[in-house]
Amino acid sequence: MIIREFRRQEINRVLEIEEASFKDPYPVSILLDIYNLGAGFLVAEYDNIIVGYIIFWIRFQDEGHIISIAVDDQYHRKDIGSNLVKSALKIFKRYNITQIKLEVRISNIGAIEFYKDQGFTEKEVVKKYYEDLEDAVLMDMDLSEKSEISG
Ligand SMILES: CC(C)(COP(=O)(O)OP(=O)(O)OC[C@H]1O[C@@H](n2cnc3c(N)ncnc32)[C@H](O)[C@@H]1OP(=O)(O)O)[C@@H](O)C(=O)NCCC(=O)NCCS
Repeated sequence: MIIREFRRQEINRVLEIEEASFKDPYPVSILLDIYNLGAGFLVAEYDNIIVGYIIFWIRFQDEGHIISIAVDDQYHRKDIGSNLVKSALKIFKRYNITQIKLEVRISNIGAIEFYKDQGFTEKEVVKKYYEDLEDAVLMDMDLSEKSEISG
C-alpha cells in the first residue's frame, strides 16, 4: 500500500468512496474546489486501486484541519486510515503546524474511536453543527507534543 498525492483524474474514484462512506457526501464540485484551493489531498493505493483518501488544510497560521477521510469499507481495519492520518500529520509538521482540529458526527462512534487511536482527544460538542442539525464532536491534537510521527 502506498500513500501519495491525489491526481485530478482520480476524482471519480474518490467520489465513489465518499458517497459510499457518508450520508451527506461532498458533491464533486466542492471536492474539486477544495483541491483547487490548495488543500492537502492524499490517496492510499493498494494493488493499483485507490482505497482511501484524506483531505486537510491549514486554516490559520498554526492550525491544521482534517476536512475528510474515508477508506473503502472492504479495506477497513487494515491501518489504511491510520497511514493516511500519519502522512497528513507529517506534512503539517513540515509546515510547523502545532494544533490539528476536526469535527466528526457525534453518532460516528467508530470514527471517534479511530481518531482517539490516532492521538486526538475529544474537546467539545458543537451543537447542531451539521445541516441535518446533528451535533459534532470537535477533536484536537497538539502536534508540538509529538517529536516524531512513526509509520
Ligand atoms: C474512520 C475510517 C477512515 C478508519 O479507517 P480504517 O482504515 O478502517 O482504520 P485503521 O485500520 O487505520 O484503524 C486503526 C485503529 O482505529 C480504531 N478503529 C478504526 N475503526 C474503528 C471502528 N469502526 N470502531 C472502533 N475502533 C476503530 C481501532 O483501534 C483500529 O485499530 P485495530 O483495527 O487494530 O483495532 C473508516 O472507518 C471510514 O472510512 N469510515 C467512514 C468515513 C468516516 O466516518 N470518516 C471519518 C469521519 S470524517
